[in-house]
Amino acid sequence: MMNHRKRDGFTSKFGAYAAVVGSAVGLGNIWRFPYMTGENGGGAFLLIYFIFVIVIGIPVVLSEFVIGRRGRGNSYASFVKLAPKSYWYLVGLMGIFSAFIILAFYTTVSGWTLHYIYLSVKDIFSATVSSSPAEIFNEFQKGTVMPLLWQFIFMIFTVLIIISGVQKGIEKSSKILMPALFLILVILSIKTISLPGAMDGLRFLFYPDFSKINSNVILDALGQAAFSLSIGMGALITYGSYIKRDNNLFKTALSVSLTDMGIAILAGVAIFPALFSFGLSPQQGPGLVFIVLPEVFQQMMWGEIFALLFFILLAIAALTSTISLLEVVVAYFSEEFKMKRRNATIFGAALAFILGIFTTLSFGPLRNAKLFEKTVFDNCDFLSTNILLPLGALFIVIFLGWFYEIDQTKDEITNQGTVRVWFFPVFVFIIRFVAPLAIFLVFLKGLGII
Ligand code: PHE
Repeated sequence: MMNHRKRDGFTSKFGAYAAVVGSAVGLGNIWRFPYMTGENGGGAFLLIYFIFVIVIGIPVVLSEFVIGRRGRGNSYASFVKLAPKSYWYLVGLMGIFSAFIILAFYTTVSGWTLHYIYLSVKDIFSATVSSSPAEIFNEFQKGTVMPLLWQFIFMIFTVLIIISGVQKGIEKSSKILMPALFLILVILSIKTISLPGAMDGLRFLFYPDFSKINSNVILDALGQAAFSLSIGMGALITYGSYIKRDNNLFKTALSVSLTDMGIAILAGVAIFPALFSFGLSPQQGPGLVFIVLPEVFQQMMWGEIFALLFFILLAIAALTSTISLLEVVVAYFSEEFKMKRRNATIFGAALAFILGIFTTLSFGPLRNAKLFEKTVFDNCDFLSTNILLPLGALFIVIFLGWFYEIDQTKDEITNQGTVRVWFFPVFVFIIRFVAPLAIFLVFLKGLGII
């Protein structure tokens, strides 16, 4: 059972905020959001994503905090505590399963960021280099040893932080890395907004073209919102269990969600003006930031420095997210199977890495190994982002809205009646009706079931 005596946790409000923002802000904001927006018509996608974050995202973040802090355990144990003798723990287990899948393909891309830091240092994106960024990217991706090596190194960084624990590892590193990330992003945005022709990029990002919207775009936007906020898979239940009793959960949920959305938009502001300024297309898919941006950097004054800054930014963002993914697994292994934290970390990371080998090689030797016309990487992305996370979020709101006692939830959100709760009725209405219905419909429609 759980260990109440000396459970590790976040020591301060800012520490908790930085850690949760660290989980939320990641490749989802800086790599995935821009290319999804680019492929799905710009402003219209942004608008739907925005609506999902407000209407579904924030309530789900809060719900996960409630489950975690009330349950005081990993995502499995928290459900067992709140709903003993029921099958709700399966939702917790599903989250742990999702964590493995996401960690696998996430570290593939994270590894790329390290390679690109290395290339930037080697000056490969400076004006004097003639090989095209598309060639560089394709050549690298097709390989076997280098992509796996970088992925492995990235996993080691993740392991080192997680071994150090919640306070000394996660909280401490997030408090340093998140402000650094914000600073780099602001510098990059200022630079790109000042490029000639930047307005076209901003127009693309903010001006909605509704003719681009269809049910797939809506499912993509829901998946993007869920992925970006780290909801539906137990990360925020696990982190919620480390939040102190007197922190205001609603304020934390709100500020984290707004920060996450703000950072995604800021990433868009840093990227689209540059693309348009140099006459490049935003519809490049996952290669967007690895092909198109280096192209931009090559044409830009001091491009090497901006390239270096950008890929450091990407790596930092990725790292504070992979630690939250690994923590979901480690909290479960160490609390349920009495494994030492160190062993649980190495074991969990090794399992995820094995799956990760396949996601990485699916750009090279395994690129023709397809299931449902998708590579291993694409299957992992689709299964987790568009299916498991929305499904997890759906079960979480149904659990709190319909099965767990509402008074208990209120007790947790109000810190035992000590904070005001004007929003509580709205929250209950959303988790009972709005969120379940919306997720359900988007889901069925996006999968072509209705
Ligand atoms: N939110 C992270 C991102 O946007 C990804 C993530 C998903 C991290 C789920 C943890 C859990 O990159």
